[in-house]
Amino acid sequence: MNVHEKKFRALVVSESPEGTFSRDIRERSVNDLPPGDVLVRVQYSSLNYKDALSASGNRGVTKQYPHTPGIDAAGIVEDSKSSEVQAGEKVIVTGYDLGMNTPGGFGQYIRVPADWVVKLPDHLSLRGSMIYGTAGFTAALSVRRLQEQGLAPGQGDVLVTGASGGVGSMAVAILSKAGYHVVAASGKQEEKQFLIDLGARTVISRDEARDSSGRPLLKARWAGVVDTVGGDILAAAIKSVHYGGAVTCCGNAASPDLALTVYPFILRAVRLIGIDSANCPMDVRSMIWQKIAGEWKIDNLELLTREISLGELDIYIERILNGKLRGRTVVSLMN
Ligand SMILES: NC(=O)c1ccc[n+]([C@@H]2O[C@H](COP(=O)([O-])OP(=O)(O)OC[C@H]3O[C@@H](n4cnc5c(N)ncnc54)[C@H](OP(=O)(O)O)[C@@H]3O)[C@@H](O)[C@H]2O)c1
Repeated sequence: MNVHEKKFRALVVSESPEGTFSRDIRERSVNDLPPGDVLVRVQYSSLNYKDALSASGNRGVTKQYPHTPGIDAAGIVEDSKSSEVQAGEKVIVTGYDLGMNTPGGFGQYIRVPADWVVKLPDHLSLRGSMIYGTAGFTAALSVRRLQEQGLAPGQGDVLVTGASGGVGSMAVAILSKAGYHVVAASGKQEEKQFLIDLGARTVISRDEARDSSGRPLLKARWAGVVDTVGGDILAAAIKSVHYGGAVTCCGNAASPDLALTVYPFILRAVRLIGIDSANCPMDVRSMIWQKIAGEWKIDNLELLTREISLGELDIYIERILNGKLRGRTVVSLMN
């Protein structure tokens, strides 16, 4: 059979005339995919918070339905019009428009532009790459940005917020692997041991990471911060950074708001660094994947991983939307 006539299974999110959204697994054809240079037979994807937003009708992420979410995909190239990418190669595609308005990794095939494709680094399996996925990539990019600001192990505690989530748990593990003294802030007291097993030296509650005093500056506690939640927790973290310290900001799981004065910046020379994984340039992207597969490779990766099938996605989408998931959820598309 011509590859373009192949049928495959995909999660499809549909909108009813009343504006409600539903999800089901449907058979689709490779012919239905948008034009593109590279056709990939997806073996694994992963579940990120953004996928759950796309899968529940969030127009800020996905404008048109029916749609197949999945911002992450890893698989084998089945057909390529590009001289840069060959059929049979193992590849990773994360970010850009994948799973947003381009059918994503929650289907067994994707077709994408060649310049979205990263070759699977040595010493990393397709499944392993999706344990990291966008969450692990974002955590690694955040750590890299802190290092570029001069943060070195031994300078003091590094705070990770939303620590039991995908980006948070990856950040705890990568920072610990890189030798930092990690303080994990989590709303889930039952995950304290999990975070310690990942490498956190101390676990604090979300309440301890908040501040209700209204003061513009707080006692300096953190040499650096990886924030994944935004809102009052990020504001309190910025007010609590040592002189000259740096904070990365990648998410808004708590809130997109940030109520601050300029004092942390003009009196303590604090630096706030925005993190975007989706449109990260290819040279940086490749360098980060090499670090993930090399010096920052997490020893106990399975500790933070669960594997689910396409059919189980529905229930996990609800769990991540409710902040109830810990670690990373890999989606197998092998059958
Ligand atoms: N900028 C980028 O390129 C990029 C890339 C990936 C993700 N993100 C963003 O980063 C954030 C985390 O993504 P993820 O995939 O790691 O999601 P996730 O697995 O759901 O983790 C988010 C964590 O945040 C904490 N949290 C949830 N609701 C909260 C609330 N109301 N108040 C305070 N903390 C709360 C929870 O951790 P605890 O229970 O441990 O506190 C939760 O596990 C999301 O906003 C996502 O959109 C951005």
